Amino acid sequence: MPKVLVSDPIDQAGLDILSQVAQVDVKTGLSNEELVQIIPEYDALMIRSGTRVTQEIIEAGNQLKIIGRAGVGVDNVDVPSATRKGIVVVNSPEGNTIAAAEHALAMMLSLSRYIPDANHSVKNGTWDRKSYVGAEVYKKTLGIVGLGKIGSHVAAAAKAMGMKLLAYDPFISIERADHLGCRLVDMDLLFRESDYITLHIPKTPETANLINAEALAKMKPTVRIINCARGGIIDEAALAEALKEGRIGGAALDVYENEPLEADSPLRSLGKQAILTPHLGASTAEAQINVAIDVAEQIRDVLLGLPARSA
Ligand code: NAD
Ligand code: MLT
Repeated sequence: MPKVLVSDPIDQAGLDILSQVAQVDVKTGLSNEELVQIIPEYDALMIRSGTRVTQEIIEAGNQLKIIGRAGVGVDNVDVPSATRKGIVVVNSPEGNTIAAAEHALAMMLSLSRYIPDANHSVKNGTWDRKSYVGAEVYKKTLGIVGLGKIGSHVAAAAKAMGMKLLAYDPFISIERADHLGCRLVDMDLLFRESDYITLHIPKTPETANLINAEALAKMKPTVRIINCARGGIIDEAALAEALKEGRIGGAALDVYENEPLEADSPLRSLGKQAILTPHLGASTAEAQINVAIDVAEQIRDVLLGLPARSA
């Protein structure tokens, strides 16, 4: 019987599918060295974002046929090394779209109304209504960077809340943007005119540090920025400085250059104008079932000798 190693927490629905065709070992929290040591026994590896599948692990995986990422981003897998070794890498491109879009929307509204800080203050025994006068999103301009699956869902919901929509995405047609009620603009115009900016792009060499000091300087002093996409798209030091100096209005981040976020990150000392969540975009019961089933089915098929749909 083939053997599958599951090295991050995966919903039981996925484990049940794998168990039909393989011995499934769930071992989470392993170090790189531990993974290198045990990977030679396995035919498949199933992960979320917690495991970094390095070249070393791939080189040691002499029996590995497939690596399945229960989620969208395969940036924690060394895909070129896997491809060179003939190991297919699969993901779940759509299973957590709604969860991530809803998290971005929740962040936008929480940021506008200071909900996390207000909640904290009431629980701490205070009744302070003056410090939490927020802003409405109605009739405000939302700039969406990346009008793919998540960006499109955010656009539909924001439109329903009466927001004006700008979008920057060099790979999307004007017709598609029009259909979503978005005005397709260049990045500079989006930076200058948006009251809210939400990022829904992959991290690539082109998007790394896209929101840097220069970009922040172009934005309105009241702009609120939301990143539920990938860490490293925002220059965190520049963002923290702009927030501290009141040069922008707020930021809500779910993802970071280094995860977990470093203890001495300047983001941690920011006040109510910053909201930080620990990479929770895909953390809904529904999304975790979707991605687990989607990826487990692909692993099962490859173990049965059927063709794979690669990421
Ligand atoms: P997608 O592929 O459907 O959409 C991405 C869009 O970005 C595409 O339309 C593409 O044309 C556009 N794009 C690519 N390069 C660009 C650039 N340089 N400038 C502007 N636009 C560019 O992907 P998706 O499913 O919508 O996911 C978006 C991001 O969200 C990914 O980074 C994904 O990893 C991340 N994500 C995070 C979480 C979370 O837990 N926080 C959950 C799911 C997805
Ligand atoms: C993804 O790329 O799917 C997200 O980052 C969510 C996750 O970590 O699983």
